[in-house]
Amino acid sequence: MSVGIDCGTMFLVGARREGETIQYTSQRNCFLTIDEGNDVEDMLTSAGAKLIKMGDKLNVLGEDAIVFSNLLSSFGTNKAKLKRPMKDGLLNSQEETSAIAILQVLVEGVIGKPTEEGEICVFSCPSNPLNSDKNNVFHQAMFKQILSKIGYTPIPVNEALAVIYAENPKMGDGDAIMPMSGISISLGAGQINVCMSVRGYPVIEFSLVGSGDYIDEQVSVLSGKPVSIVTKTKEKNLDFNNVNYDDIVIAGLDIHYTDLLTNIIKRFSEKFSESGKVYDYPIEIVVTGGTAKPNGFEAKFKSILSSMDLPFEVKDVRMSGDMLKTVSKGCLIKALQEQKKVVGK
Ligand SMILES: Nc1ncnc2c1ncn2[C@@H]1O[C@H](COP(=O)(O)OP(=O)(O)OP(=O)(O)O)[C@@H](O)[C@H]1O
Ligand SMILES: [Mg+2]
Repeated sequence: MSVGIDCGTMFLVGARREGETIQYTSQRNCFLTIDEGNDVEDMLTSAGAKLIKMGDKLNVLGEDAIVFSNLLSSFGTNKAKLKRPMKDGLLNSQEETSAIAILQVLVEGVIGKPTEEGEICVFSCPSNPLNSDKNNVFHQAMFKQILSKIGYTPIPVNEALAVIYAENPKMGDGDAIMPMSGISISLGAGQINVCMSVRGYPVIEFSLVGSGDYIDEQVSVLSGKPVSIVTKTKEKNLDFNNVNYDDIVIAGLDIHYTDLLTNIIKRFSEKFSESGKVYDYPIEIVVTGGTAKPNGFEAKFKSILSSMDLPFEVKDVRMSGDMLKTVSKGCLIKALQEQKKVVGK
């Protein structure tokens, strides 16, 4: 057996094969920390929170952290602030000491213990971002350590390459058809990961920081509304087919999305031109991730794409299956391949 896990800034999503189907499990990647023995502990305990002790701190993890953080703020206390073990697609260095211990509990909650000794676990990892000094070396090493501690044999896979495995874009036609060949874009909370693959091998890979979280923060600043309200409006009401420019939050979101998508296509085009490669066939683009979920996203992306001068021909743009599960499905596919290699030896 083997397992895949998408280690995202906002969501951890696990995937396991059960017969002919895939079983997914997910959890919010966040936590709430409180000091033992204060009034907040009593309040949370009586509200039914499951408190997990780590060192001298008590923690509420995952979805519960959001529920109880909202509850506490409705009581007017800000003694327990919602935190994230990851920021911009990578381990959150400001939360470093607690982040790793918390992540281990969250990860184990999502994929459980290995079903056999040294079971393979393929986990998603972002590329190094073009627009930040941060790199993924520490992040990848720590995730390997977390998974090894639980008992898995960890193998990293690039997040955007996982999308290629899950969605199998194709290039060419007739006998010359090449599977696993195309461009994938994963628009998450922290990062945008981009890959161009030919027959499953990445020929271009990069990421950019400044995805969903960044848009929310920018629109919060320009509108004066709290980030949580902006995020809620974005997830519930944003519809690119019907943008009300009198609503400053909606207008701000639309403008920042336009800027983001234009920048992604521009950066990819630069990388494509630098590669010096020429392809005989038009290229398929697959898009996934929570940030690509609003209504009208596909049409907006296509319209920006067609307005730009591109160094390649586009075959089609399509949205992935379930946007929040695609990366973990790709991780599972890679894990099953790795498993076959071990069994075949
Ligand atoms: N319906 C929606 N409309 C717009 N944005 C949404 C919607 N649903 C979720 N999102 C946004 O998608 C993002 C989370 O997406 P996703 O789960 O793909 O990220 P992640 O994998 O956790 O992050 P990353 O890959 O950057 O580490 C958040 O910014 C969230 O606000
Ligand atoms: Mg992601």
